[in-house]
Amino acid sequence: MRYLLGLDIGTSGTKTALFDENGNTVKTATYGYDLFQPQVGWAEQNPDDWWEACVNGIRDVIDKSGVQASDIKGIGLSGQMHGLVLVDKDYKVIRNSIIWCDQRTEKECDYMIEVIGKERLIKITGNPALTGFTLSKLLWVRNNEPDNYSKIYKILLPKDYIRLKLTNVFATEVSDASGMQMLDINTRNWSEELLRDLNIDKNILAEVYESVVVSGHVTEEAAKLTKLAVGTPVVGGAGDQAAGAIGNGIVSEGIISTVIGTSGVVFAATDTPRFDKLGRVHTLCHAVPNKWHIMGVTQGAGLSLNWFKRTFCAKEVEESEKLGVDIYDLLTERASKSKPGANGIVYLPYLMGERTPHIDPNVKGAFLGVSLINNHDDFVRSILEGVSFSLKNCLDLIEDMKVKIDEIRVTGGGAESSIWRQILADIFQHGLTTVKASEGGALGVAILAGVGAGIYESVEDACQKIVKGNSKVEPNVELKEVYEKVYEAYNSAYPRIKGF
Ligand code: XUL
Repeated sequence: MRYLLGLDIGTSGTKTALFDENGNTVKTATYGYDLFQPQVGWAEQNPDDWWEACVNGIRDVIDKSGVQASDIKGIGLSGQMHGLVLVDKDYKVIRNSIIWCDQRTEKECDYMIEVIGKERLIKITGNPALTGFTLSKLLWVRNNEPDNYSKIYKILLPKDYIRLKLTNVFATEVSDASGMQMLDINTRNWSEELLRDLNIDKNILAEVYESVVVSGHVTEEAAKLTKLAVGTPVVGGAGDQAAGAIGNGIVSEGIISTVIGTSGVVFAATDTPRFDKLGRVHTLCHAVPNKWHIMGVTQGAGLSLNWFKRTFCAKEVEESEKLGVDIYDLLTERASKSKPGANGIVYLPYLMGERTPHIDPNVKGAFLGVSLINNHDDFVRSILEGVSFSLKNCLDLIEDMKVKIDEIRVTGGGAESSIWRQILADIFQHGLTTVKASEGGALGVAILAGVGAGIYESVEDACQKIVKGNSKVEPNVELKEVYEKVYEAYNSAYPRIKGF
């Protein structure tokens, strides 16, 4: 049997997953790390923490599976997108990575619009100037930390730093590179004109490949640390959203997905680059050769419930530990005791600003409509609903772009809750399919590795064989009216709290 390894370098931790060539999960391991918030709206991580989590994860899955390292035929890398990793000429990290949800770069975005122009930026990069994307972070370092900027030899994305550690090669691939906002997504290569106008040296960028292409091989040093075999091929891989989409079989028009992860996403594959004129949904290269994708992103999905748990649920956490149940199961179960509409509370999930549909890095979250009758359960429910409304904003825009929607697949940690899934189906008023035994992004990039290693003919072919739909949640039609009303209230809130 041949095996494939997928690594997903996420925000809360790195998941390492070993699959056999039929896509069955053999072993997984997850290692967490810290997120630093030096100021409100800032978010940083230490790239060497990611590497340590990868080393531990790879050693674990090899040791515990008993699989011979030489039977691992390919490695795929996935991870949080947009993070800026600065590397000096000795291949050392210069400063902590400024990661995807960091919102410090508003001034730099204004500068990008001034120099490039809003429409031209969307035409070239598929997106308006975004605080979350890598380019504005790079400009921030140039403006605020000139010493660090002058030390730059290469800049990398989080998963591409892991590639450097594994293979000693500086490389990236089209799906994640699109989220750097320096790629011309039409030609799938770095945009010379944009780099020239912004005075950025192209040499600091890594080589960009299609996602299924082998970009390097495991070095002796990395093999010693991880127990991998020297020479194991590492393919391009993909940003976490494109990778997750492949793991869920979102590789052609018709099936779209919605993800409740730390951030929330509605994702559709397209055969040509398709743009929202206002740039409210992202247009990026897909990790499938010659395909693109669009996605709406809400910043604070699972993040909202996680924040609420940490801040307001000490008693519930204690109770869940006593009962031996998962805290999120306990909280979502409590939410089901409230009512659709959360007894009047509307939650706006803007804890880290918002992308779709508002593109507003400064907007703050809110609970609106609170009164004396409300209890803890109502608050939890309002979070599940508020995040779902935000995802509905994404879905509405994608529908407006006339993308074919035959099926919606739902994934991500939040979607493991049957209560949250049902709320989402009721708010979407659309059936939602779950995917059988998916390891999400890790499976997606293992599939890409399998294509690179010649085990599968194409990404589409592998998905056909491996990814299977599972159960379906049907919407409660009788809740259509009540949720339409609350959705209207939800949508009326942003213009009123904007700027607060
Ligand atoms: C996508 C995005 C997130 C991060 C972290 O644009 O910002 O998916 O990649 O998960």
